[in-house]
Amino acid sequence: MMALKMVRGAPPQALLALCLTCCVAPLSAAPPLQGAPQRLDDGYVPVGDILYSAEDWACLHAKNLMSVERLWPRTEGEVKIPYIITYKEMNMTMLEEAIGAWEAKTCIKFLKMEEGDKRAEYLEFRAGGGCFTVTGYVEGEVTVSIVDTCKGRSVKHEIGHALGMRHEHKRSDRDNNVIVVRENIDPKMASNFEFSETINCGIPYDYFSLMHYQDTAASINGKRVLVAKDPRFQDIMGEGTEITHWNAKLANTMYKCVDDWLEACGQTSDPCENGGYIQKDCSCACPLGTSGDKCQEFAMSYRDALLEKYSPYTSVINTPGAEVTSPGYPNDGPQEAIRYTQVMQAPKCKKAVVTFTDFQLGEEDDMPNCKYTSTLEIRTDVSVGDGKIFCGEGIKNQQVFKSDNSELIFHYKNYDFLGNGGENAYRGYTAVFTTEDIPGCR
Ligand SMILES: *[C@@H]1O[C@H](CO)[C@@H](O)[C@H](O)[C@H]1NC(C)=O
Ligand SMILES: [Zn+2]
Repeated sequence: MMALKMVRGAPPQALLALCLTCCVAPLSAAPPLQGAPQRLDDGYVPVGDILYSAEDWACLHAKNLMSVERLWPRTEGEVKIPYIITYKEMNMTMLEEAIGAWEAKTCIKFLKMEEGDKRAEYLEFRAGGGCFTVTGYVEGEVTVSIVDTCKGRSVKHEIGHALGMRHEHKRSDRDNNVIVVRENIDPKMASNFEFSETINCGIPYDYFSLMHYQDTAASINGKRVLVAKDPRFQDIMGEGTEITHWNAKLANTMYKCVDDWLEACGQTSDPCENGGYIQKDCSCACPLGTSGDKCQEFAMSYRDALLEKYSPYTSVINTPGAEVTSPGYPNDGPQEAIRYTQVMQAPKCKKAVVTFTDFQLGEEDDMPNCKYTSTLEIRTDVSVGDGKIFCGEGIKNQQVFKSDNSELIFHYKNYDFLGNGGENAYRGYTAVFTTEDIPGCR
């Protein structure tokens, strides 16, 4: 059974602490932009040893970079980022893993500086009471990454910023993918949610990107700041701990790795299909959901494949009369800290109606405010960011829930019984999905 082994089953305080330390890149810390390089008459833009076409220039300039000068330069055809560590207690396992992961998926190399090595530009991993990074390279300046509270995915995320990447949820197409709930944002963090007029170089919006926040990161009140427009992704948004295919493709596009590899492999255009790209060994890197040496076998979309892999209980229920149940019902529920989403989807002009016939997620008296137990949250529309949370025997037999429009959304969060030495001896829930007309709707 696949389970997200993450902090999601832990008490809410633990979750919030992780979010706040993993994702914050205060833009106030960013130095002012430099002047743009000269554009040639034919539209090409030379930077170092690279000549960018007008189109590439626009792509690089606007995607996740503030300016192309925020790209680390190539010397002798290679991108090498010198770095030093001045944070004395740096977890070297974590840093080496993060650096190794970026090196394995891109053409970028990280070069540990020797003692006495004098350079104007390098990346410094420093202590400073947090986990954030100035976005990208700046000529004549040290790129600072504050890492003393970074855990898990966050060092990879910070290196992403150091490469010049911005947050996924700032992209120009973010409004098609997430709703930003302004009133829940900690005002000090507001810049992390500002919309950016980006050009996305054909790379799709990725809820699982390393550069995406979790839904309650930077929240001032614990409520959701980011609500997925595709509600199936609410639980796994920002939960990715690895460099995704699209993260790597972006880095490899920004730094021209793909162009180098194409040339080295004697190709004039990328032979990889369905969003794949050529790699160093001339094979294709394929997005989830595709396979074959040219990524030509398309089994399912990247998004569907993400869910299948990381949130296998997530489903869309759209057949009237269908049962809606928790895993294992009516036997003991799952023991580990799984999460999933069930979307009850009615056709246009119909409401989704769910009638419970059994509900048991623990014993009511033991769990004030549904802390330290499994919970079911019910949202009545995708525009309603936070729903009502139930646990214990908090839903009665024949109790009915209806959507505001066509979608009723369940978010189930299983308590980490396994990790906390307990046992889930509760039945879970079962309910029936039906639909009813929305009066006056045409
Ligand atoms: C250091 O990082 C590794 C890998 O992320 C982790 O397993 C280990 O627990 C960390 N050590 C400490 C002391 O935090
Ligand atoms: Zn960040």
